[in-house]
Amino acid sequence: MHAIEAQSLTKTYPGGAEAVRGVDFAVSPGEVFGLLGPNGAGKSTTVGMLTTTIIPTGGRALVGGYDVVEQPLLARGVSSVVFQEPVVDRSLTGRDALELHARLWGVGSKQRRGELTQALGLAELIDRPVSSYSGGERRRLEIARALVSEPAVLFLDEPTVGLDPRIRHELLDVIAGVRSRQELTILVTTHYLDEAQRLCDRVAIVHQGIIVALDSPRALLARLGEEILEFRVDGDPRAALAALRLKGLASGDAFAVGARVTVPLHDHGAGDVLAGLETRVSEISTRVPTLDDVYLQLTGTELAEAA
Ligand SMILES: Nc1ncnc2c1ncn2[C@@H]1O[C@H](COP(=O)(O)OP(=O)(O)OP(=O)(O)O)[C@@H](O)[C@H]1O
Ligand SMILES: [Mg+2]
Repeated sequence: MHAIEAQSLTKTYPGGAEAVRGVDFAVSPGEVFGLLGPNGAGKSTTVGMLTTTIIPTGGRALVGGYDVVEQPLLARGVSSVVFQEPVVDRSLTGRDALELHARLWGVGSKQRRGELTQALGLAELIDRPVSSYSGGERRRLEIARALVSEPAVLFLDEPTVGLDPRIRHELLDVIAGVRSRQELTILVTTHYLDEAQRLCDRVAIVHQGIIVALDSPRALLARLGEEILEFRVDGDPRAALAALRLKGLASGDAFAVGARVTVPLHDHGAGDVLAGLETRVSEISTRVPTLDDVYLQLTGTELAEAA
């Protein structure tokens, strides 16, 4: 059985915004699955449907085998969510926030809360009011709170947004640590490529409500070969691409964004490709492909730069 399953899952908001236009994916128990996409791609809407706060307008979704529309309480019972916006009451101490959550839902032991406090590096802060926490500390508390109920499935909606790079990396380690200690399925949304690459077993690249690619980060990268050539064209980049394709020096996976042309080299040398150009080029470089290239190639839109 899959931990999460979405079948033609669709959401059109009243007013007509087609936020999610039929997505299909299945996440195995224990897998970390990423939804990667720019602002407005439909990531939070998808998480909202899977956590029963947003009602789908089409298709269906199962969490822990429970239909999110037909059996919302059961679906919610096996999962937890950390929303994009913080929800913990800032006037409480961390300890009170965890206890309140446990009592409200009738879940989790004191021992469990103690373990989570340790595991998420909150021991020093747990008796301070949440209002005194830094952004990263608050995120860690929110994750601890979500784990109090020992969920089988954890949804993290942009867990590291707004955090500085060091704290971001620390938090990624914490999430990876949580995952390695217990059988936990995680669905994480992000627009940071490095994050998806570090954390996720598989990544779905979402663009305008549709999944445009779904694979392991490694397999997504492998599509573009080991090296890519990049340069800036003085004239029409599309004409330059067409010329290279005609000569067999570039294939369908070469792409242009603005005046910048990216050519996965595969079996060609960079010199051969440059020699085949009929226009003047500048800013020539070669490098290894990143998920950003995969994304650009699929959508022609640039993802947010990782901080
Ligand atoms: N309540 C709503 N009513 C109408 N449209 C909405 C509503 N919520 C979201 N949308 C629209 O649906 C689309 C997808 O939004 P969503 O929040 O799912 O994107 P996202 O991928 O989470 O983006 P971000 O990275 O900015 O968080 C956007 O175009 C957004 O404007
Ligand atoms: Mg969002």
